[in-house]
Amino acid sequence: MRIAVGSDHAGYRLKEFLAAHLATSGHDVDDLGTHSEAPVDYPEFGAAVGRAVSEGRAELGLCACGTGIGISIAANKIPGIRAALVHDVTTARLARAHNHANVVCMGGRMVGFEVAKDAVDTFLSTAPDGGRHDQRIREIAVLEAR
Ligand code: RB5
Repeated sequence: MRIAVGSDHAGYRLKEFLAAHLATSGHDVDDLGTHSEAPVDYPEFGAAVGRAVSEGRAELGLCACGTGIGISIAANKIPGIRAALVHDVTTARLARAHNHANVVCMGGRMVGFEVAKDAVDTFLSTAPDGGRHDQRIREIAVLEAR
């Protein structure tokens, strides 16, 4: 799977760790930065990951900042993006199954790296549920189109 990844400085180490894990797992990782722990602003990187997914250059996205909050808000400003802040395997599974999230976000200052790795693996291996969830995703698309 082609996965776009991005972070600010506070999510940099987590992003690097997860990008290496994804590459080792056989995924095609597109690292959109940042590339060091020097302070940067998270909106640019959340938007870059969102655009990569929205434009079809990546199937899914992964974002990290200090809390995961700011970068998820930024990614969600890109049309077609459903970026979900997750903390563990359960929120990762439900974000994908129920919310059809296409970008997974985590806080580099909030979660342990091993927990984050398990969460990302779960996100990637969980299929979106249909039925009532499809209808809710359509309702979100209607909100976005207004
Ligand atoms: C950076 O200090 C921090 O504010 C940022 O990484 C993120 O947590 C914002 O939501």
